[in-house]
Amino acid sequence: MSIKILMVCLGNICRSPLAEGILASKLPKKKFLVDSAGTGAWHIGRHPDPRSIAIAKKHKLDISQQRGRQFTKDDFDAFDYIYVMDIANYQDVVRLADNLEQTKKVQLILNELFPDENVDVPDPYYGVAHGFESVYKMLDETCEVIAKKLIEKHC
Ligand code: 4NP
Repeated sequence: MSIKILMVCLGNICRSPLAEGILASKLPKKKFLVDSAGTGAWHIGRHPDPRSIAIAKKHKLDISQQRGRQFTKDDFDAFDYIYVMDIANYQDVVRLADNLEQTKKVQLILNELFPDENVDVPDPYYGVAHGFESVYKMLDETCEVIAKKLIEKHC
């Protein structure tokens, strides 16, 4: 049975598709499944933002075939780990949890890199193009830590 990890942001077109692609590239496919979702509904069925596709491609990752979807309550049971990009995502997701077990699955993704600091992955959607490069870099660094931990624990 696979270990399932869900990456969550607001739109599911900028940050979480990158996080999905980056983490998936660091884990053995046989054992792990990585997906992503947005707390908002605007981009359901859409491909990732072209700027995220481009920055992924620059780092030899193809995320162009992903499609946006919205986070649902069912994801709490479907996934073993839920990583959110910022504190607003955290609040929106945890609000849907029915119990402590579900709440405990939800973690701010940068807390893996900077424990307990509650640092956000900034939303690059309305920002400048180099925002995507810095988002890529922080996600790559934190996914390296996450992948090591998951492999150690489950492989
Ligand atoms: P994301 O960025 O949460 O990293 O996918 C956003 C994308 C779109 C919107 C907001 C954030 N939007 O408002 O449409």
